[in-house]
Amino acid sequence: MKTLIFAAIAVLLLAPISLQAKQEKQKAVLVTGASSGIGLKVTEYLIKNGFYVYAGARKDADLKRLDAMKNTSSVRLDVTKQSEIDAAVKFVAKQGRGLFGIVNNAGVGVFSRMSEMADKDILWIHDVNVMGPHRVNKAFIPMLIESKGRTSIIGSISGYVTGAFSGAYSMSKFAVEAYTESLAADLAESGVHVGIVDPGGFKSKIREKLTLFRLTGSYELNQQLTDEQNVELQKAKEGNDKLKEPDEVAEAVMHLMMSDKPKMRYMVSPNKGGADITMKMLLTRLIQLNSDQPYEYTRDEIVALLDELLKADELLKTE
Ligand SMILES: NC(=O)c1ccc[n+]([C@@H]2O[C@H](COP(=O)([O-])OP(=O)(O)OC[C@H]3O[C@@H](n4cnc5c(N)ncnc54)[C@H](OP(=O)(O)O)[C@@H]3O)[C@@H](O)[C@H]2O)c1
Repeated sequence: MKTLIFAAIAVLLLAPISLQAKQEKQKAVLVTGASSGIGLKVTEYLIKNGFYVYAGARKDADLKRLDAMKNTSSVRLDVTKQSEIDAAVKFVAKQGRGLFGIVNNAGVGVFSRMSEMADKDILWIHDVNVMGPHRVNKAFIPMLIESKGRTSIIGSISGYVTGAFSGAYSMSKFAVEAYTESLAADLAESGVHVGIVDPGGFKSKIREKLTLFRLTGSYELNQQLTDEQNVELQKAKEGNDKLKEPDEVAEAVMHLMMSDKPKMRYMVSPNKGGADITMKMLLTRLIQLNSDQPYEYTRDEIVALLDELLKADELLKTE
């Protein structure tokens, strides 16, 4: 009897310690916009790779669905609402795992000509896509510094390539490229890594929402539509169904979160065409910027500089 009582007391005393040990070992990552598409895929990959996930979502049904996943706690998180970000910081701190990483994934877009684009829509895109990551990172930076952790953004190849209808979305994705570089420089001494994953087109809910917005001015998925609008929406869904699942995007995020040598930028194009356009655009910009100015580089100087930079990048990977 005595032995049994001792054993029971030992189990009770050790339980919190082993829970604490498990919590210390398991790195926690916050994912914003985890309800669908890339955010949901990244959440699944993080769980598969042994992380604990704080999955940000906005709707009750999504929060419930995410909570039911193992090693996941859902967090109500609209990245435009400072009060929800503050509550998320308190919640995560209270769980006692610290925070190793953030995946700033939540994003929106509106496709329209810049000349016809409403100011309020441009501001909304920026509020979610640019100010969102800024607010979330700023609030959690003390926890990231403590863990010497990592923060990331899901940018886009639209952060390099743009066109007539993607101006406002591209503006936000160009902005987070600059934001990433600046934050990385800010935090260089702190041991916190900052990176950005730039996908091309992958399967998600974003095209359905963009089409709905164009047709009705609202992002809501379950709207009453006319027959004509339903045909348009169906076309968008069929286009989306032809795209790849965003596994490659999630794999890049895993590299950023897990590698000893995480990169600052990850281009994840689903096909060679997307990568080709992006490279061509970047080099076109270099040529445009360089030409007809007093300090213009010659072709040979550009090639020499390119060689030097490629060598430095190789060194970074191997040292
Ligand atoms: N899929 C692609 O081809 C592609 C390519 C390049 C970049 N991206 C980027 O990838 C990210 C994810 O997009 P996705 O394609 O996976 O689209 P998605 O399926 O529509 O997912 C977007 C996510 O963002 C959330 N969200 C929207 N506004 C929010 C806010 N104010 N606060 C918090 N969460 C918010 C959505 O939540 P609700 O469900 O509550 O609306 C949803 O979870 C975006 O940053 C997008 O720009 C996507």
